[in-house]
Amino acid sequence: MEIRSIRGFCDVLPHETKKWRFVEEKARRILEDFGFSEIILPIVERTELFVRGIGESTEIVEKEMYTFLDKKGESLTLRPEGTAPLVRAYLENKLSSNDIVSRLYYIGPMFRYERPQKGRLRQFYQIGAEVLGIDSPMIDAEVIYMLKLIINELNINNVLFEINTIGCRKCRGPYKEKLSKFLENRINILCQDCRRRLTLNPLRVLDCKNPGCISITSEAPGISDHICDECRGHFEDVKYFLNKVGVDFIINPRIVRGLDYYTKTTFEVTSPLLGAQSAIAAGGRYDGLVEELGGERTPGFGFAIGMERVVMLLPDKRDRRCEVELFIAALGRKAQELSFLLKLDFERKGIKTEMDYSERSLKSQMRRADRLGASYVLILGDRELESGRGVLRDMKEKRQDEIPIERISEDIIFRLRR
Ligand code: HAM
Repeated sequence: MEIRSIRGFCDVLPHETKKWRFVEEKARRILEDFGFSEIILPIVERTELFVRGIGESTEIVEKEMYTFLDKKGESLTLRPEGTAPLVRAYLENKLSSNDIVSRLYYIGPMFRYERPQKGRLRQFYQIGAEVLGIDSPMIDAEVIYMLKLIINELNINNVLFEINTIGCRKCRGPYKEKLSKFLENRINILCQDCRRRLTLNPLRVLDCKNPGCISITSEAPGISDHICDECRGHFEDVKYFLNKVGVDFIINPRIVRGLDYYTKTTFEVTSPLLGAQSAIAAGGRYDGLVEELGGERTPGFGFAIGMERVVMLLPDKRDRRCEVELFIAALGRKAQELSFLLKLDFERKGIKTEMDYSERSLKSQMRRADRLGASYVLILGDRELESGRGVLRDMKEKRQDEIPIERISEDIIFRLRR
């Protein structure tokens, strides 16, 4: 029986990997221009890292983690996101010892046991960027501006930057109380999960996807009306600097994010072309996470881009043509041997070459060359070997010339590269 892939785990096929590489290359270049260095993190971490980092009452930790016991009975988890692992690595490797500021980025797969649908997978790739060590709202604006540059560089238009503030631990306390009271009065209409969340962390009710809960929370007191002066000032400055650097945005009070580590600024970049899963990137400030994971108080700000969603917005260039520049059609063992050596030589010189490795007729070899979109076909058979001249067919012009075998290489390179 055929073995199939796991639901929500997708193959990225060759015509798509080109787009992935394009996104990765553009993002890397801009990130490195902005002083970010790459960090490669493990895919598996101790479960506790995510429970403490992301928060026990979040959807991710409650329902979506791929958690298993290893052979010694230790609980491990396939990383559902990169920020907590990055902070773990930052602390473990004492990355703050060089400079008080660290700018790091990572690229790789994340795993969440969500219900797969268009744009939502169980294994998905993120390009994430994090700045540790800067409190200033200027860094919020700088990182969001850099993200805008990446999106522009990918020629993705028509995206919306949606920002919000969710305050800090201090101002969130009184707000949580107010929200709890509001929700308790409507507890009968909340879904089962939200009833439980209400006691664990009422903020989580705000990002419940259940339509009933959404309609209740749309009338709930808004967090931005309850933040302290410091958080308000921070948010005012973020907006001020975003305006200064020309990032257009809207304020969306529903962006509370599904991870507990956020403080102050939160944001998402959405595209109306993607349907329900419209966020192509998201992030925010997390000033308490480093401390939560055992370090000293260190502010953080970052985002992650969802690779699959970004790729869905790129134009389809399914162009098999020009993948093969030269096709060598060989007839007979001797000609095949020469073709084989020529092919390796051409490829070493950067010419994409294909041959048939078979005894098939010239007609079927020519048909294959045509299907592959080869620019030229070099025909070599016993007769050509005897006369010392190969036949080179220009597939576009539909013309053919005889060329001396010892000059084949220069001649073809000249024609292809002129
Ligand atoms: P997140 O919003 O959970 O944030 O994920 C960031 C992005 O990853 C989303 O906007 C989306 O494009 C993509 N994404 C998330 N889940 C899926 C999925 N199941 N299938 C496909 N794409 C998905 C974080 O992960 C934070 N760590 C971001 C961050 C970095 N905050 C601060 N620094």
